[in-house]
Amino acid sequence: MNPPEATNLTEIPVLEARGLQRHFALGAQRVAVLRGADLRVMRGEFAAILGSSGSGKSTLLHILGLLDRPDGGEVLWNGEALATAGESRRTELRATESAFVFQFYFLLPEFSALENVVMPAAIARGRGRAPKSAAERRERGMELLERVGLKERMQHRPQQLSGGERQRVAIARGLMNRPSILFCDEPTGNLDSRTAHSIHELLVEVNRELGQTILVVTHEADMAAVAARRVVMRDGIISPE
Ligand SMILES: Nc1ncnc2c1ncn2[C@@H]1O[C@H](COP(=O)(O)OP(=O)(O)O)[C@@H](O)[C@H]1O
Ligand SMILES: [Mg+2]
Repeated sequence: MNPPEATNLTEIPVLEARGLQRHFALGAQRVAVLRGADLRVMRGEFAAILGSSGSGKSTLLHILGLLDRPDGGEVLWNGEALATAGESRRTELRATESAFVFQFYFLLPEFSALENVVMPAAIARGRGRAPKSAAERRERGMELLERVGLKERMQHRPQQLSGGERQRVAIARGLMNRPSILFCDEPTGNLDSRTAHSIHELLVEVNRELGQTILVVTHEADMAAVAARRVVMRDGIISPE
């Protein structure tokens, strides 16, 4: 008798890291920052990696987000192995399946909030789940800015916005192409505690109401506390809290 066919009961993680290693040269020394980091993020999860400054969180997130490559180990997106995949495939997936929110926003200063939010869709040009037409992009951009509480600020340039408002624009931009995962690197690291709290709440809403999968790395316990699952980065590996 043939064995039963494999069923689909085992869900494939949106993101998986297996045994990630990364070293940096420091003069003649070789410093190991990642020493076998493992992680799984399932669809719809809001996960946080908490770690002290210098523990390798940004290094890890850059590798998970395909902005950097590991020296060893594997990164899988929706089951696809990407650590040593060709640059064109990695670039394609970065543009269509992921988005980043950084501590310092990285908005384009010459463009309005709305133009910044629409930018990823203009780059994706209808690939993946990105809006197809210019009209759809603009409509979605306006909806997202309204969603993050900036209905009255759409035409403002970044310099005309507060830090918290800039980060709201960056979050709206991150949602534009309906990414499989939203990577956030110290998203409230540049904000006062009250503004930080409002961004925590916004991320929780985005996760709950839009079902957006989110992975945050942070050294702030307050930020990590709002995630549904927390792990800790220490000595180059990831362990339960
Ligand atoms: N490009 C690089 N070249 C050399 N060392 C680096 C580089 N990037 C990061 N590091 C080192 O790796 C360690 C971890 O850095 P990072 O990932 O930025 O930590 P975190 O984000 O947790 O603060 C630090 O000691 C840092 O100096
Ligand atoms: Mg960092």
